[in-house]
Amino acid sequence: MDTIFDSIKDIALKIDNAIKNSDLGYSQSSNSSGEDQLKLDVQSDLIIEQTFKSVPSIKAIVSEEKEGISVLHENGTYTVCYDPLDGSSLVDVDLSVGSIFGIYEDTLDGDGLVASAYVVYGPRIELVICKRGKKPIHYRYMGGQFAQIGEITLNDKGKLNAPGGTQQNWTPIHKNFIDSLFKEGYRLRYSGGMVPDLHQILLKGGGLFSYPATSDKPNGKLRQLFEVLPFALVYESAGGMAIDDKGGSLLSLKPSFVHDTSPCFFGSRYEIEALKKAYGV
Ligand code: AHG
Repeated sequence: MDTIFDSIKDIALKIDNAIKNSDLGYSQSSNSSGEDQLKLDVQSDLIIEQTFKSVPSIKAIVSEEKEGISVLHENGTYTVCYDPLDGSSLVDVDLSVGSIFGIYEDTLDGDGLVASAYVVYGPRIELVICKRGKKPIHYRYMGGQFAQIGEITLNDKGKLNAPGGTQQNWTPIHKNFIDSLFKEGYRLRYSGGMVPDLHQILLKGGGLFSYPATSDKPNGKLRQLFEVLPFALVYESAGGMAIDDKGGSLLSLKPSFVHDTSPCFFGSRYEIEALKKAYGV
């Protein structure tokens, strides 16, 4: 599996270069969820596919930007599901964005998820790699290489609150709960890019990131295979929790379609237990 992580480091440098130097306009196409694709989305997707083509252990790939599963190496072991450039609409205002990778063996669901990784493209390039059963490891690109910074461990209680979705579309239960955290002293930290927002909560010790079921998106917005499951593994491995709105672990998710979404909540133990109480689950 380490060759996959080496290739992700290579990908991170190439996509960072594309972000800094490429045209920011829209392409002529839309992705499988009907969203307009930026040229950068298409370019990032191509960079990943080209790089993974030279990694024999990768049997197949599934991209957030494409419809189905593409087989790369019949005798490979892993299927890598990825969001090439999450939050790409933030590039034109120069906010941080990211790439997310879920590495699956046998089944494309929480049980089959054996590792995950994400890259943050910000003032620096950061990388977090998480193998199942181990703590997530934080790397930072400096001096021409990815230097290991250390393991990530969440505190039992944090201070940050990152509430996704449009407030007018929240349920009263969700609105009351988010308000209660602010009344407790939590600080709002939400950029609209899940990678930097979740990364900030992880590195600042804890808090809550939520993307609930809303009246316009009853199944949430974030995609299970490319976004929700990879971060669920990182949060649970860091000592936090990751649940859906029924109180079940997100790692129990079994998508029936590769682009399925789910309401999702990631946080330290205190905030997730409080959320379960508020939701009555
Ligand atoms: P996109 O890649 O289309 O910009 O979407 C970003 C995702 C995710 O990164 C972020 O947390 C969420 O959408 C933000 O959605 P809201 O604006 O609805 O909160």
